[in-house]
Amino acid sequence: MDIEKVNSMDFGEFVDVFGNVVERCPLIAAAVWSQRPFSDLQDLKQHFYAFIDALPQSGQEGILRCHPDLAGRELQLGTLTAESQREQSGAGLTSLGADERLRLAELNAQYRARFGFPFVLAARLSDRAAVPRELARRLHCPRAQELRTALGEVKKIARLRLADLLGIDPARL
Ligand code: GUN
Repeated sequence: MDIEKVNSMDFGEFVDVFGNVVERCPLIAAAVWSQRPFSDLQDLKQHFYAFIDALPQSGQEGILRCHPDLAGRELQLGTLTAESQREQSGAGLTSLGADERLRLAELNAQYRARFGFPFVLAARLSDRAAVPRELARRLHCPRAQELRTALGEVKKIARLRLADLLGIDPARL
């Protein structure tokens, strides 16, 4: 998809296509649409990033809280978004053994209790061994640092999802 096609989309089409670039936050796509026309595909991505950066801390934490736990209850129930399902499955999180699942559930719960939002990681850039390792490491980070790290992961996820939707190599975005 090229930038002319993106710029020609009406509001409904744009939100349909880009509404889950940030997990369960179609409001972000709705706001980004108002900023068109975009000069190129990178500019489109930058508008998603800029919206996230401009939010007050409560809004940034709200974005994190819209994410399901990795290998969590929603995966078991089959209620993940298509994008999250694909990412978690690509990282091998859909085929964990019972002990690995339990370990992740415990770490996810500790993380949520400490920070008040779920652990977010660009699962597509990780794998089933690295996820619990990274979770255990980030669990001990200072809160302000962890908020920055988690929002950085949201942006990585957004970049990969955008590249998929646009049909381009993520390296070009
Ligand atoms: N990384 C990629 N997708 C997701 C998701 O849906 N939830 C969390 N927590 N991390 C992710």
